[in-house]
Order: sequence, then structure tokens, then C-alpha cells
Amino acid sequence: PRIYIPGDSGALALGAEKVAKAIEKELADRGIEAKIVRNGSRGAYFLEPMVEVVTDKGRVAYGPVKPSEVKSLFDSGFLTGGHHKRWLGAPDKIPFLARQTRLTFARCGVINPLSLDHYKAHGGLKGLQNAVAMAPAEIVKQVTESGLRGRGGAGFPTGIKWKTVLDTTADKKYIVCNADEGDSATFADRMIMEGDPFVLIEGMAIAGVSTGATKGFVYIRSEYPHAVAMMQKAVEVARKAGLLGLNVLGSPNAFDMEIRVGAGAYVCGEETSLLNSLEGKRGVVRAKPPLPAIQGLFGKPTVINNVISLASVPVIMDKGAAFYKDFGMGRSRGTIPIQIAGNVRYGGLFEAAFGMTLGEIVDDIGGGTATGRPVKAVQVGGPLGAYFPRSLFDTPFDYEAFAAKDGLIGHAGITVFGDTADMLKQARFAMEFCAIESCGKCTPCRIGSTRGVETIDKIARGIEPEKQIELVTDLCNTMKFGSLCALGGFTPYPVMSAINHFREDFKPAPVAEAAE
Ligand code: NAI
Ligand code: SF4
Repeated sequence: PRIYIPGDSGALALGAEKVAKAIEKELADRGIEAKIVRNGSRGAYFLEPMVEVVTDKGRVAYGPVKPSEVKSLFDSGFLTGGHHKRWLGAPDKIPFLARQTRLTFARCGVINPLSLDHYKAHGGLKGLQNAVAMAPAEIVKQVTESGLRGRGGAGFPTGIKWKTVLDTTADKKYIVCNADEGDSATFADRMIMEGDPFVLIEGMAIAGVSTGATKGFVYIRSEYPHAVAMMQKAVEVARKAGLLGLNVLGSPNAFDMEIRVGAGAYVCGEETSLLNSLEGKRGVVRAKPPLPAIQGLFGKPTVINNVISLASVPVIMDKGAAFYKDFGMGRSRGTIPIQIAGNVRYGGLFEAAFGMTLGEIVDDIGGGTATGRPVKAVQVGGPLGAYFPRSLFDTPFDYEAFAAKDGLIGHAGITVFGDTADMLKQARFAMEFCAIESCGKCTPCRIGSTRGVETIDKIARGIEPEKQIELVTDLCNTMKFGSLCALGGFTPYPVMSAINHFREDFKPAPVAEAAE
């Protein structure tokens, strides 16, 4: 028999290692020989550790499994898919998974992450095979026509970015993958790097072939040691298999890549400070222009894309631009891995075509709060995203629809808050976060965020609250329009949305707390 136990760090945090050990022991005690595969997670984290066994009727899942339940699992005929209280049946039929449209994450949690054969058996490498047979401009055209936009948060058309690099003449060009996934509630980059690393390598190789870049770097945050280790191993496997190197898949194209680890600064997710960090400099934001596409890493034309943007390219190059473009709404085409977290019942990664409403995602897919309390607010797009009240739950998941409501999709992380959340504290947290993470290059962000914390504190202490709200509003406008990058420029989103939608929370704190 073959057993799949996730080695993904989300599953490990939920006890997957102990479950794996208990299963190994049970197999040994019973004298059964079985192959254990450490796969990625399918992303239904409320069911992790989710163990799967291959039976003659296909894969059968059990979860969330506790180490203490392993013995009873075997007693129930686990190896042949027998019934047990943790029995979930065929993983594809679990409602949370069955309702998804998995294009980018099709293999994540399904395959052995380091088996290139498994990757190929599940449709891998077809995109790159097609790409190496095409002219670079034709590849760029396909990516542009697919409608793919930057999944890091800004939503800039990926094909247009690639075209700028293709059209810029230089002796050396680079592909940089931004894996400094720092937003609260986000884990899509991590999950795919740990669960299907070859899809990112394939996406980067396609980017290289299409723009003439011969070297790629994946910049991974230091908080992701499992992703770093997995990507390093996968790059070695890919190199040995001729997927990377002087002749990519036997073609005349050369492309190789390296994994680099960040040092823990949120602002290094901003593309220009990431480039500085990669060059060994301090992670301070550079003024744009010049765009990285023209003068990026070491001053050379550089494609810098988020993990999910690059990992979405193989399916486009395999199935075609029209196939991908067919999903979604308006100018938001294809699918997006929505990450549902916070006080939520069914937390996890939900890949879907753009267009679902926020209410469907939170109430229907997420099942409301884990505590059973009513949902008060959801923050979409990380710590710099706006807080949405229930009255805006009809907003469809679409870049433009969110912008129209003074919000952003960002990297598609959603944090759910129950009715005990204090939105004044959340607004203060946004300013404090900005003050801590500011790179210090520009005044509105460096000084404004600290003044913002002080002003919000005055509201909590009841010192002329109305006047302070006016001051915070004015400060937010200065930060929004005067900051050099999105850190200072977007902090006003959580602050102003909290003030505008939850004004009742902007009042003095109860006496005991105010006296602290
Ligand atoms: P931006 O709008 O300045 O740029 C978007 C991208 O398009 C950049 O890569 C830029 O270089 C490129 N670009 C613009 N014009 C171009 C052209 N003509 N040719 C080629 N490339 C061109 O946005 P920015 O500052 O890069 O990102 C802000 C976003 O980052 C926010 O929306 C926020 O949601 C997101 N964010 C994501 C985080 C995460 O953990 N993933 C963390 C914090 C913020
Ligand atoms: Fe640095 Fe903040 Fe200015 Fe961005 S907005 S450049 S993080 S000081």
C-alpha cells in the first residue's frame, strides 16, 4: 500500500509529523510494508493532518487525524479505505475541494513534490515543451492574451511586463521570483513551493525562454525554511533532468536558477527593495522609474513576478490563452487562490475563478467564524488591505470591484474577524505595523505612521476624538499620495476603512484600559 502524509509546514504545524511517526510505528508493529509519500497539502487546513491511502477504488482520505487515533484507524481497515470517524472518502469529493477550480494548484497535495515523473504524469512540463518550440514574442503574446495579472497584489498584466523585458536589449537579463510572502492570512506561495515546486521552476524557465533571461532567482522569506529546502532540492532534480541548464529540455535556450533567502523584513517584498536585498544591499525601496523591467537586478532588465503569477504560466502554455481567459470576470481573468484565515471555521486555500462574492467566500465556503460568533469584518489583501463590513459582502472577487469599494484584493488573503473585534485597535495596529516595517526612506511613511499611532491613542483616551479623526484622515491622505511605495501608501486602507465602516468603535476605551 501507498500512504500520503503531508510534509507541508501548515500540516506539520497541525501535528503531521507525529501522525507520520505513529503510522510508521503501527506499520512496523503489524509487520506491514507500505510506501509513505510526504506530499504537499491540498489546502483544506481544517482537515489537516489529512492522510490518504491508495486503494483499488482510488485514494481515500482521513482527517484531521490525531496520533492517538492511528491505532484505531488501522483496526478499522484504513489500508483498504475502511470506515472510521475520521473517514472523508475520496479527497476530490470533499465539498471544500470539489467546489474549487484548480488550475495553478491542480497537483498540489496530489503528487510527490520531488518526483519529476509524478509531475509529468499529472500534466507537468507540457507548457515548457510548447514554449521551447515557439518564438519568444509568441510566448509573450500567449501570456498577454490569457489576461494573467500579477498575483502578488498589484494586478499588473504579466505579459506586458514580460514584453518590456523582451524588448529591452541587454547582455544579461534576469527572472526574479518574489517569494517574500509577508501578508497576513497568505500562504499560497508557501503551499505551492512545498507541494508542487516544479510548477514554479517550469514557470520561471518559460519566463526565461520568452524574454531571453538566462538566470533566475527565487527570493524566499527566511520564515519559510521548508519551502527553501524543498525548492533547493527541486532545482537540483530539475537541473539533473535537463530542465534547467545550458539546453533547457534539449533546446538552444539556456536558463538556470538559484534559491536565495531573505532576512525577515516585510518591505523586502516590495520589488525594488527585494532587488537591493538580492544584490547584498540594505533592503531600502528604490525610486521608480527606472522600472525593474528596464533596469532591475544589477541594473539589468528583470522580470520580477510573484510565485503564483509564475506558477500559473505552465497551465496557460499547456492549455492555451483562450482556455485560461475563459475563467473569471471583467478584467480579472483566470483563477485566484483565495486564502481564508483568521476566526473562520473552514480555513484554507480555495482556488476559484474570479467573480465569487466576498459573502460566498466567507459565509458559504469559510462557514463563518470558528467561534460561532457573527462575522463583524473581513480584511482582504493583508495588513495593508481594507476592512470590509457585512454590508459590502456582495462585492465580487475582482480587482476593479474591490478598488471601487476602496479596497484591494492584494495577494488574496482574507482574515475573518468575529463581533468581538475592536476596529480602533485594528486601525492602530495598521499604523504600528507600518511604523515597525517602514524602510525609512520617505517621510509620510516613516514619521506619519508613528504620528498615526499617537493620534489613534488619543481617540482611545477620549482626547477630542472628532478632531483626532479629522487629523488621522488628513494624515492618511498624505501617506496615500506622498509615500514612495505601497507600505506607506496602502496603510490608509485598513485605517480609513475601519473609521468609515466601524465608526462606533472609535470612542474612548473603557476606563480600566484607558488608564493603562
Ligand atoms: P505597482 O503598481 O507599482 O507595480 C506593479 C508591477 O508592474 C511592478 O512589478 C512594476 O514594476 C510593474 N510595471 C509597471 N509598469 C510597467 C511597465 N510599463 N512595464 C513593465 N512592468 C511594469 O505596484 P507594487 O508597488 O509593485 O505592488 C503593490 C502591491 O503589492 C499592492 O497592491 C499590495 O497588494 C501588494 N503587496 C503584496 C504583499 C505580499 O505579501 N504578496 C505584501 C505587501 C503588498
Ligand atoms: Fe520606505 Fe515606507 Fe517610503 Fe515605502 S513608503 S519607501 S517603506 S518609508
